[in-house]
Amino acid sequence: MIKRAISSIALALGLAVATIPALANEGGEGLAPAGTNVADRASLQRGAKLFFNYCVGCHSLKYVRYSRLASDLGLSEEEVMTNFNFTGAKFGEPVISHMPADDAKAWFGKDPPDLSLEARAKGVDFIYNYLNSFYLDPSRPVGWNNTVFPNASMPNVLWELQGLQTAVHGEAAPGQEAAVEKLEITTPGRMTPEQFRGATRDLATFLEYTAEPAALERQSIGVWVILFLAGLTFLLYLLKHEYWKDVHDSH
Ligand code: HEC
Repeated sequence: MIKRAISSIALALGLAVATIPALANEGGEGLAPAGTNVADRASLQRGAKLFFNYCVGCHSLKYVRYSRLASDLGLSEEEVMTNFNFTGAKFGEPVISHMPADDAKAWFGKDPPDLSLEARAKGVDFIYNYLNSFYLDPSRPVGWNNTVFPNASMPNVLWELQGLQTAVHGEAAPGQEAAVEKLEITTPGRMTPEQFRGATRDLATFLEYTAEPAALERQSIGVWVILFLAGLTFLLYLLKHEYWKDVHDSH
């Protein structure tokens, strides 16, 4: 009887533990950790603002509706429609870039991909490191290159904030191109390097949210699961006490 009670409790515990969200992000090799926290609403709002100022000109978020953004980020319909919507889309419609795909192809040689699921496809660490790794490269058609995504056809759209970054090359082996040893800011931007890392972290946070809007709910459910487990542990402790009292008494 007791055994059965205990095993069903153990089962309940196992199930409860299984529903605790996996908070860790897998980082790719050699990437600095982005250190994002999707539960940080201020960071999410700053990231959204940056996205709509600097990215939506080329990239869509086709799985994200303006209305959902408003409720998840704690913004009013008016705030979202005046600050984030430049295409005349309706409140219930998804975020679609106004750049026609054909123009994008002609200008960049590549379609800027939809970024709704980018954080799930590549990870937040990739996004964060990518945004920090642009450098001037006159040999590239857009004038920029990137150490995390070599020969990317995206220009550094955040250069005014970051400043101009240039590459310091190492010794070239005969017949080969010299590898980039490190990147240096040669002309400062409007932000200090630390502020810029914060801004790109906010952007990565925002894209982590768009890749899985349910993560916000899951995190708040996680808190209840922990409280439930704490309560259950206490009850089990009392129960154990009660049973063992009988055992001791019977001797
Ligand atoms: C001027 C147009 C343009 C703007 C603005 C722009 N991008 Fe891009 N982006 C591109 C293009 C083009 C590519 C495709 C690069 C390639 O595949 O070579 C790209 C690729 C990317 C990728 C890599 C996608 C992959 O293949 O995994 C990420 C991440 C990204 N952009 C993020 C951003 C963010 C964040 C912003 C805003 C800060 C932004 N982009 C602004 C044009 C743009």
